Amino acid sequence: MSTEHPLVTEYRHFSPKSAQVAARARDVFPGGDTRSSAHYGPYPLAIERAAGCRVQDADGHELIDFMNNFTSLIHGHAQPDVVAAVQEQVAKGSAYAATSVDQVELAEMIQERVPSIEQLRFTSSGTEGTLMAIRCARAATGRQKIMKMEGGYHGSYELAEVSLIPFPDKRGDLDAPASLAVDGSFPDSVLNDAVICPFNEPERARALIDKHGPELAAIIVEPMLGSMGMLPATPEFLAALREGATAHDVVLIFDEVITLRVAEGGAQVHYGVTPDLTCMGKIIGGGLPVGGVGGKRELMQLFSPDQESPVMHASTFSGNALTMAAGRAAMKAYDAPAVDHVNTLGARLREGFNQAFAQSGIRGQATGMGSIANLHFTTDALHDSRDSIAATVEAGHIPRLLHLSMLRHGVMSASRLMYCTSTAMREEDVDAAVTAMHESLAELRPYVEAERPGLMR
Ligand SMILES: Cc1ncc(COP(=O)(O)O)c(C=O)c1O
Repeated sequence: MSTEHPLVTEYRHFSPKSAQVAARARDVFPGGDTRSSAHYGPYPLAIERAAGCRVQDADGHELIDFMNNFTSLIHGHAQPDVVAAVQEQVAKGSAYAATSVDQVELAEMIQERVPSIEQLRFTSSGTEGTLMAIRCARAATGRQKIMKMEGGYHGSYELAEVSLIPFPDKRGDLDAPASLAVDGSFPDSVLNDAVICPFNEPERARALIDKHGPELAAIIVEPMLGSMGMLPATPEFLAALREGATAHDVVLIFDEVITLRVAEGGAQVHYGVTPDLTCMGKIIGGGLPVGGVGGKRELMQLFSPDQESPVMHASTFSGNALTMAAGRAAMKAYDAPAVDHVNTLGARLREGFNQAFAQSGIRGQATGMGSIANLHFTTDALHDSRDSIAATVEAGHIPRLLHLSMLRHGVMSASRLMYCTSTAMREEDVDAAVTAMHESLAELRPYVEAERPGLMR
């Protein structure tokens, strides 16, 4: 019989009712899971309700929610304005397959906030937003290939995930990284269509754009590498992509599905780099499913029904009345003071976590920007996804144990140790998370010393 780690056993003792839900889930969902990013072992906590920055699990524990549905809940849960807007709207119908004032007003709000967005379209997910941005770029340029970053994530389809995980034994040289599948579902055609660019390498990016420019429809980049551990781009890197794209008439797409929250106009305002197209999602839907793509009028016009052959984008729930009402209320409440509030809390969280690591004697650090933090078990500088993978491999099972321990200490994050703040939080909530981090690292320390001594300072 294999012996379970004592901290996993502790977690089982903590969450017997979640275990029961997980057992039922295993019957209906493969592996008990219907969303890859939200699953973790031995089973995830089942959540029953949530309000503000707190969630309640099936066993009745209250946890502070630093996951915020993977950064989408900018106001936490059940924000009163959003609840009122949704309640009012749902009584009037949830989707009309027609335009509405809410739709136009939310679009106007985004257009006003994000300077590069002259026109936009709503989609039902961030995945669909990046997909439509790529189709728009292909239609505009008549070219097929897409440059994406090694470690970049743009949604749940093959092209958006090529080289999401740069497996050390397959990824090749930084001068010409390989196009890698992340699972067995990738057709070769998609791998051939992707040109992989190393993240945060301006000179290499320039060389690759010069080499592949004539075949490239688009360059797509997250201003902060998200799934690979919230690693902000350097300003020089984004500037190099902008220059290269302009020089070769390639459409530069910023995927701001996550980073739109870091400033009123998104990370592009923070960096002062203007993309041609911007993909959105998460916060603009006020907690309901959403996405969007916007940018230069001449590009967005390719979707126009006035065109002889517009880029086809039919999507049953795009711009649905319920999401528009929720998004409008949420974005209205996410004004400059609110942005400042969550960003200040984010900085406090990263600093507190860094101090907790320093005090624990365990190597670790928080990366991120604005209201977002991600933990890594290394004190080395993290530059790209290769660095974050190296740290993850080195840390073995320890990050997973920290996540479970933090849950038992009342703090919920993504299992990959991503945290973000919401307007529902106060300094006390952040400080409670930092205290939980001190306690969890103290609990973890003997196991790190025994099982991964290389992680001690
Ligand atoms: C940067 C980025 N782009 C695109 C997506 C896909 O968005 P969605 O999950 O709404 O399809 C995500 C999702 O996490 C993301 O982080």
